[in-house]
Amino acid sequence: MAASWSPDSWRSKPIVQVPEYPDKQALADVEARIASFPPLVFAGEADKLKRALADVAAGEAFLLQGGDCAESFSEHGANHIRELFRVFLQMAVVLTYAGGSPVVKVGRIAGQFAKPRSSSVEKRGDKELPSYRGDIINGEGFTDKDRIPDPHRQLEAYRQAAATLNLLRAFSGGGYASLDNVLRWLLDFEQKSPFGQKYREMGEQIQTALQFMRSCGVTEETVPQLGRTTFYTSHESLLLNYEQALARRDEAGGSHAWYATSGHMLWIGDRTRQPDHAHVEFLRGIRNPIGVKVGPTLEPDGLMRLIDILNPSDEGGRLTLIARFGSDKVEKHLPKLVRRVKQEGRTVVWSCDPMHGNTISTPGGIKTRPFDRILKEAETFFDVHRAEGTYPGGIHVEMTGSPVTECTGGATANISEAQLTERYDTLCDPRLNADQALELAFLIAERLKQEREGMAHRQMPDVA
Ligand code: PEP
Ligand code: CO
Repeated sequence: MAASWSPDSWRSKPIVQVPEYPDKQALADVEARIASFPPLVFAGEADKLKRALADVAAGEAFLLQGGDCAESFSEHGANHIRELFRVFLQMAVVLTYAGGSPVVKVGRIAGQFAKPRSSSVEKRGDKELPSYRGDIINGEGFTDKDRIPDPHRQLEAYRQAAATLNLLRAFSGGGYASLDNVLRWLLDFEQKSPFGQKYREMGEQIQTALQFMRSCGVTEETVPQLGRTTFYTSHESLLLNYEQALARRDEAGGSHAWYATSGHMLWIGDRTRQPDHAHVEFLRGIRNPIGVKVGPTLEPDGLMRLIDILNPSDEGGRLTLIARFGSDKVEKHLPKLVRRVKQEGRTVVWSCDPMHGNTISTPGGIKTRPFDRILKEAETFFDVHRAEGTYPGGIHVEMTGSPVTECTGGATANISEAQLTERYDTLCDPRLNADQALELAFLIAERLKQEREGMAHRQMPDVA
């Protein structure tokens, strides 16, 4: 029998990666205020995403999850959101067409503000300050004022998440997401990029198919899906004070179950997935679809324990395992986990985060991720699933729609180490820019197409 759960039962568990707020009363006041605010998302929407993810788990759809490593208060403008949405939709169309199945679109957005850090302090010269933990907690500037955790930042995070969601809902339903628009943007990419030209054929095929449908009377009036899309939100469930304040019972749907209403899907990071700790405790009790990052320190027994706690009734779509090993480790670590989950007959979505295991520092000390390594991890993820007879269900990337220079390489962007300083805007980890993200989508689409056509003849490398 599982122990009883309540939205605050996490408070009696051990917890890591959280800030020490000096002003406890101010924190309690902020929590009470947020608890009185409207929910950002509804239980019914989270359920709908769960059903869509159940289709992914069954091999009938593909999950595309992505966005900033950390959203920023200062970068909150319509352009930033629109650019991300735009590249996201292009990736989704490419993947839908190649995979021949729906793509479930989940942004790392409208709540992705809190960051786990490898060290709780940062030292510069003689000065030591608390590490930056994301805009919802403290400021990036290296001053006492910035770095002292301030609970009022949670109010600003809520405001930004609400405004972002509002714009996303307008983009999704208001015609901006029409297939015509997306194809036009794709054409721009195909024309400008030497890489894209290789894929012009795919764009042309989609255009032809669309024209054919039009001449058969299939238009946005008769099939509204052509003019709109469904876009979900997600973030790492790290700052549990904020998450608890936005946990609500589903009264409208009549289930009276607890849901996190800060986003549709929440995940637990690789550093906070200890089975007896607070983050797992909070997520086990909410009904949303959830994710767990799975890194090199997780062994099959530990994974089964997490699955038992987080999805005891084996509900399809409830649990997404986001594998993030590194291009040189995935081949060693992933197969045993995939095999065990399959042996135990558990229903999960396997998704690949090819970003977090592939961060390196340049000789000049800049954090970057080489595009080749990102691609290699994604390809190996596909290879492993092919060899194990399981379904590679999704991809989870840190990306932005702007032309930043944070990850090196890519055939179109072709960013050198020397160029990294030109537009290095991320608050935390290096993101793929629009060209690199789209290129990754085309390369994954090729793999999905092979899966679909049963044409992949790749040999699995030996597993040590
Ligand atoms: C992240 O997704 O931003 C992150 C910190 O990932 P991980 O927990 O896998 O390191
Ligand atoms: Co990150």
